[in-house]
Amino acid sequence: MKNSKEFKEIDFDRPSFLFKLSDSLVYMLGGAGFYNKYIESISLLGSENILDFGSGGGIASKILIKRIPDGHLTCLEPSTCWIKRLRKRLGTFKNVTFLNTYIDNANIHDNTFDVILIHHVLHDIHPEKRHKVVKQLSRILRPDGRIYVREPIKKSHGMPYEEIRQLFKDVDKKEIDFSIKTNKEYTGIYS
Ligand SMILES: C[S@@+](CC[C@H](N)C(=O)[O-])C[C@H]1O[C@@H](n2cnc3c(N)ncnc32)[C@H](O)[C@@H]1O
Repeated sequence: MKNSKEFKEIDFDRPSFLFKLSDSLVYMLGGAGFYNKYIESISLLGSENILDFGSGGGIASKILIKRIPDGHLTCLEPSTCWIKRLRKRLGTFKNVTFLNTYIDNANIHDNTFDVILIHHVLHDIHPEKRHKVVKQLSRILRPDGRIYVREPIKKSHGMPYEEIRQLFKDVDKKEIDFSIKTNKEYTGIYS
């Protein structure tokens, strides 16, 4: 289990050539199993107001937006490099908003979103900042809304699923479903 001192911050404003290349390849393959299976498993009516928190280059966002023709997608992504890719990939959709900022500076009203997606993001946030982030996400979720979380839980890359559960428990969110692939990944739905 990593503590704050062992946490290695990734510079998402200057991703490596390999990181960008693998993002391009997975995007070209339309999510290539890893993304599309999971995103398509999210239960949606098509009219939801959704936040893709830490959307990166938008591979998940692109799959999501096609599922909500009568809804709206907000992509929040602090990295300027990844937001450029997002705008390129989703810019033709009318029902999308891009926020190139951190949640604290985003000025989002309470009770805004029906669904919030956190896809491989929490483990990349410094452990000391995670509680504040989850508190903000819980504030902008509608009372009957759902938060979908998918995080790696490997010791070498990820965070303990017990920590994820505690973060949501601390903001009074209930885990209504989950799955754990031992030493690989955790997925959870909170409401
Ligand atoms: C591993 S990438 C995942 C991107 C995308 N969700 C996906 O699954 O393809 C992690 C993303 O989280 C973003 N991120 C890091 N710290 C963040 C924070 N405090 N708030 C929001 N996003 C953050 C990074 O800029 C990066 O795009």
